Amino acid sequence: MCLSIFTSLLGPLSPPALSKQLQVHCLRSVDNLFVVVEEFKDFQFKKTKEEALKDFEDLAGKLPWSDPLKVWEVNTCFKKKKTKCKKMSQNSNKERIGNRRDKLDEKDIRGFTDNALDSHILDYYENPAIKEEISTLVGDDLASSKDETDEHSKEETEPQVLKFRVTCNRAGEKHCFTSNEAARDFGGAVQDHFKWKADMTNFDVEVLLNIHDNEMVVGIALTEESLHRRNITHFGPTTLRSTLAYGMLRLCAPQPTDIIIDPMCGTGAIPIEGATEWSNCYHIAGDNSPLAVKRAANNISSLLTKSQIKESKSSWGLPIDAIQWDSCNLPLRTGSVDIIVTDMPFGKRMGSKKRNWNLYPACLREMSRVCRPGTGRAVLLTQDKKCFAKALSGMGHVWRKVHTVWVNIGGLHAAVYLLKRTPQAFVHSSEQDGERGTPW
Ligand SMILES: C[S@@+](CC[C@H](N)C(=O)[O-])C[C@H]1O[C@@H](n2cnc3c(N)ncnc32)[C@H](O)[C@@H]1O
Repeated sequence: MCLSIFTSLLGPLSPPALSKQLQVHCLRSVDNLFVVVEEFKDFQFKKTKEEALKDFEDLAGKLPWSDPLKVWEVNTCFKKKKTKCKKMSQNSNKERIGNRRDKLDEKDIRGFTDNALDSHILDYYENPAIKEEISTLVGDDLASSKDETDEHSKEETEPQVLKFRVTCNRAGEKHCFTSNEAARDFGGAVQDHFKWKADMTNFDVEVLLNIHDNEMVVGIALTEESLHRRNITHFGPTTLRSTLAYGMLRLCAPQPTDIIIDPMCGTGAIPIEGATEWSNCYHIAGDNSPLAVKRAANNISSLLTKSQIKESKSSWGLPIDAIQWDSCNLPLRTGSVDIIVTDMPFGKRMGSKKRNWNLYPACLREMSRVCRPGTGRAVLLTQDKKCFAKALSGMGHVWRKVHTVWVNIGGLHAAVYLLKRTPQAFVHSSEQDGERGTPW
């Protein structure tokens, strides 16, 4: 999910006031943030490419950049950097933005920086192991990577000019220009307007041009590394974003002392997010693959080490355990679990559609056994909706489907189902068989 921030909704734009507003960085279900420069609900794109691109050029000088740039500047303190940490002091930012915008009061900046450094919002960590996925379209001739090495040596001696790039995301059939052309021409005009320097990889400001049919939003990115990059250091083939894991857990409203399991945990993204955000519950991460369990255990240990380092004292640990098990035959008592949250194999990268026809009914049945009748709930993610619907259709006596949330997982249209455990007691198949089959 992407969260857009409108400066008109932020209230006073002094740095201390903004520091409060920028607590949006603490939101657990948001991947990326940007501040809106201007939103056009119905932009009249011209019919020919030349005219449409000329409009992009003209637009750059007319936009209300000043307030969004103040937000961007204050945000620098909060932003979780990618692997390379570009240390820019507030003052150097101020110089580099140049003459075209209002300057922030020196005292405010100093006061703000002191506050911000004390703030828990800075409790981020870097994960050099992760590569950012960027689907960015940048004007090719805005910047050449050849210049980059020269620039690094010049940086130390010359007064710094801000570096920027334009990223255009375009959806819709009717445009007579490509996103690359829009980014290139709009970027050229932004460069002329601010006298900034274009740089595709080592940029300070990322200007966003989001176009969807006739709707266009110009924004400035406030996140450099997506906020879902937390918790996980040992990745698997289908590691779930922590932001989505958080959303799934929230759907079943965990209560203190609840026992929450992920019977097919993979790298443990869901139970680890659960243990960090709902630490008054007990979480169990299980998988039938020894490699997955090892990864989950490694992720738990890395997180513990990190929190020990951060708090520079012995940590109390996390309320989570990892175990190898078969989700169709869980080593748990009947009716002992309050919440089940899991991301089932889609049958694409993990497992197969054919195997799902056996797996889904078997594990839904086993989940109905361990889940507490009357109050238990399950949140299950799958893209194999047909197989899931078929499996669930035979279990109306134990599961009631309450809600479906549609999600996009790497371009796949998937569903998150919220199920409630009915009050009906679980009946073992042997008992059922007994009932049906006694010949006397
Ligand atoms: C989609 S992946 C889960 C990914 C996980 N959410 C993560 O963030 O890494 C599904 C997992 O189900 C596991 N699995 C498949 N069949 C299983 C079974 N019968 N019992 C337990 N786990 C199973 C696979 O090993 C795989 O790790």
